[in-house]
Amino acid sequence: MKLIRVKDYAELSEQACAYFMERLAAISNPVLGLATGSTPEGLYAKLIEKYNNKEISFKHTTTFNLDEYVGLPPEDVNSYSYYMHEKFFHHIDIPEENVHLLNGVAEDAKKECEAYEALMQKLGPVDIQVLGIGENGHIGFNEPGTPFSSRTHLVNLNESTIKANARFFDSIEEVPTQALSMGIGTILEAKAILLLVSGEKKAEALARLIDGEVNEDFPASILQKHPDVTVIADEAAFGKVRRK
Ligand code: F6R
Repeated sequence: MKLIRVKDYAELSEQACAYFMERLAAISNPVLGLATGSTPEGLYAKLIEKYNNKEISFKHTTTFNLDEYVGLPPEDVNSYSYYMHEKFFHHIDIPEENVHLLNGVAEDAKKECEAYEALMQKLGPVDIQVLGIGENGHIGFNEPGTPFSSRTHLVNLNESTIKANARFFDSIEEVPTQALSMGIGTILEAKAILLLVSGEKKAEALARLIDGEVNEDFPASILQKHPDVTVIADEAAFGKVRRK
């Protein structure tokens, strides 16, 4: 695991963008695994800048998002589909047919997950997977206790995740209690993983990721075993890490 320590969120976003620019230069038809949440917003904004400056094109890029809330249609402002289009896809030249998100209102969740897996097998593997981390160590929406071998599946969200995500909704009652998420086994098939960690709230999680054991109680810990993981974290997030 390569650790990059940066001063603050602005530098984190810059470094994440630099990572993308360098890696994408070497891939002609990249497949990206993308995350939502607060952490990658700055990365997407920086990539849009690069696109506007004609330094990069996404015409031949394919994307797969990590997860989606159950019960929210793509046009719902809190859906991850809406987030991705608002914050990234609408501002770049990626063809809509290259964009893949789980359908949170699919009639049959199991079938939806299996179809997503099949599509990833067909179009993948993912070249670069962007990840954030939950305060409880979740990656995607894989909560503590999820098997490391899990594939794309229906997830019951933990109380702590619902609370953490309530900031995006008008009230906590509106936060969906279930989601569809790539499994941990699915995520690990990406050739390279970029984990972004920002802020004091994530300090405990980052310390456990770096100093702790590999254990299904802490989903992100399995990243220690992946051959190509880069972690970019700011000083606030590094606050509790012991390893030099
Ligand atoms: C989002 C996702 C989640 C988030 C995590 C951190 O697609 O899969 O695992 O990455 O909850 O969220 P933020 O960045 O909002 O702190």
